Amino acid sequence: MLWHPFNQYQLNSEFPKISYGKGVYLYDIHQQPILDAISSWWVNLHGHANPIIAKAIYEQALKLEQVIFANFTHEPAEQLAKNLLPLLPGKMDYLFFSDNGSTSTEVAIKMAIQYFHNQGIKKNKIIAFENAYHGDTFGAMSVSGRGIFNIPFFDMLFEVIFIPIPTLENIDEILETCNQICKKQEVAAIILEPLVQGAGGMKMYEARYLDEILALIKKNDILFIADEVMTGFGRTGTLFASNQLQQKPDIICLSKGITGGFLPLGVTACKSYIFDAFKSSEFTKTFFHGHSYTANPLACAAANASLILTTSLETQQAWEKIENQHIEFSSMAQNHPKLKNIRHLGTIWAAEIEDSNSHYENPMSYIWAKKAIQKGVLLRPLGNTLYILPPYCINKDELNKVYEVILEILED
Ligand SMILES: Cc1ncc(COP(=O)(O)O)c(C=O)c1O
Repeated sequence: MLWHPFNQYQLNSEFPKISYGKGVYLYDIHQQPILDAISSWWVNLHGHANPIIAKAIYEQALKLEQVIFANFTHEPAEQLAKNLLPLLPGKMDYLFFSDNGSTSTEVAIKMAIQYFHNQGIKKNKIIAFENAYHGDTFGAMSVSGRGIFNIPFFDMLFEVIFIPIPTLENIDEILETCNQICKKQEVAAIILEPLVQGAGGMKMYEARYLDEILALIKKNDILFIADEVMTGFGRTGTLFASNQLQQKPDIICLSKGITGGFLPLGVTACKSYIFDAFKSSEFTKTFFHGHSYTANPLACAAANASLILTTSLETQQAWEKIENQHIEFSSMAQNHPKLKNIRHLGTIWAAEIEDSNSHYENPMSYIWAKKAIQKGVLLRPLGNTLYILPPYCINKDELNKVYEVILEILED
């Protein structure tokens, strides 16, 4: 028997069986198409079974499938570093590999703490945002908001200083709180999802207020970790969400879209001053973190192929087209009696369903997901938050179909 993640079996124990995918569509074993409006948990960028990425993996598999990365290097990893690092906001210098989004944030937290430790500075506190989601491993859970995803483990999570996401109304208060926190000189890093909190309900916030916090934080020798696991690779309309910030990260976490949605891969990129703090004749200053499949050549080959597609003019034009269509739909739907807080950022569109509770465990999300599948669209609301986060190859008619299905279900 299979145990599926993030699923309450009492409410749902039936799963469409998918046999293949092509473009924005997944096809079940009865050949029924399902339009993937959420990029299969936000990983897919260029459509399912994209032939260019598939070919890159195949060709790499015939050459080298895996080699221990502790003492070896290989071309796909080096290519990825060479191509990706200069594109990252703040121009990063080093790439550290792991396997998924959670491990990329786990690595970032450890890197930040040990960066100070190696210099003889004791700073072991982290600032994070309320309602954040950084993954399911213990470090990642610790810096995530306390809630439904981690209730059984509350007592085991390390202490974190939480602040709310900034708005015009609360920014002065947050800055005052940060000022007080900074005085204690205990904080190693701030970790956050720039501009959109994904799993927390596609909560969007403005770059200018975040920049005010980051300017203060950076003045106080606190590292800025940008968790771009969801926002990376064009989701917010720029290659990375941090491109829209004045203040640039010291460490960036990436995963999900990095391989175009083909293979699991996490990376944590950092500036050279962080790497330099680990270079020493003392073994204790080594970064003792690594996974068996670190820098898997197949995943790196997929990432290289996906990066070429992502940085193409065609893809960047696709972000614009998707955003323009979201804008049109939002203005059409703005007076809908059952939708509130309609918003978009780049290719992400979201809204709340009026008068229903906003908790992730809201059973309505199961009902919605099921109805959408029956109408041929993959949607997976977060509580009462409906959202669309499509692969970039979606065309106008396909995106219109997603909007139509949303409106039809609202009518039910
Ligand atoms: C911002 C962010 N960070 C980290 C993660 C964890 O990634 P993974 O599910 O690959 O472990 C997620 C997953 O949704 C995420 O959205």
